[in-house]
Amino acid sequence: MALHRLSSVVIGVPNLAETARYYTDFGLTPVESEPGDGGRAFRTVDGGEQLRLVETPLRRLVQLTVGADDHDDLGRVTDRLTRLGIPAEQAPDSVTAVEPATGVRATVAITPRLDQPHIPATPYNGPGRIERVDARAPGVERAAPVRPRKLGHVVIGTTDLATTERFFLDGIGFTLSDRIAGAGAFMRCSTDHHNVLALNAPVSFLHHTSWQVEDIDEIGRGAMTMLEDHPERHVWGLGRHHAGSNFFWYLKDPAGNFSEYYSDMDCVVDDQLWTPETLEGAKGLFNWGPPPPPSFLKPEDLAALMTGAHAGP
Ligand SMILES: [Fe+2]
Repeated sequence: MALHRLSSVVIGVPNLAETARYYTDFGLTPVESEPGDGGRAFRTVDGGEQLRLVETPLRRLVQLTVGADDHDDLGRVTDRLTRLGIPAEQAPDSVTAVEPATGVRATVAITPRLDQPHIPATPYNGPGRIERVDARAPGVERAAPVRPRKLGHVVIGTTDLATTERFFLDGIGFTLSDRIAGAGAFMRCSTDHHNVLALNAPVSFLHHTSWQVEDIDEIGRGAMTMLEDHPERHVWGLGRHHAGSNFFWYLKDPAGNFSEYYSDMDCVVDDQLWTPETLEGAKGLFNWGPPPPPSFLKPEDLAALMTGAHAGP
């Protein structure tokens, strides 16, 4: 019937053990590795195993996996990739292709749909709207560690935005949600506003992965806990994006990849009712929040990644 979810990502890092500790602190649950698999896998509360770390010389997005309903979906993906002249590697229940500009492997696999349990809205008081009486806010009473519910999206820098866009939109079958004028494309393979954002960059690299939490309080609690003994992890937040409308706070793992806690993202259920816009100026980046640090757009290791990329794999 259709693509329906971003199932998982594989991230390559040069410092596996240290980075694995970071994602455990971030609230992902380590999964017992299979003997000899050479990686570290992590689960989210609702999404199952969604992150695998592997060792690579330079940090990078190695692979992403998209969920589809059935073999007809896989057939359509294969046909579209073939029309673009991109080889599609077929397995019984999946199709895999390499995105030509970034080298990221994209797999579309037949996967059950993600059915997240309904969580009642957090009561917030407002003018003429008292939802919570005689009690402190849940956000100040919560004591349990923050645990991301699912992987939301991945953002990659690409040296050839047109090629990367064509691969995801015309090849894999993503839908365009919005554009950043001359700089990027927000694309979805689910009802989330974006599951992949491709950004123009001088070198192909992983910008960030983003992880859903229940509400804005969980973003704040999660980030504060991450920063407690590690102020160097802070990148940018708290704020609200314009594209996707989500609240955000970005942190940095020890390999240099950003990871985002997000909540309240726009959901597109009827494609006919969403009109993609081209966002100009600051709106492409955010709606409100502190000014983004220069290292958000140009991570500090970008020059090193460029040198490394030119030196070979
Ligand atoms: Fe994001």
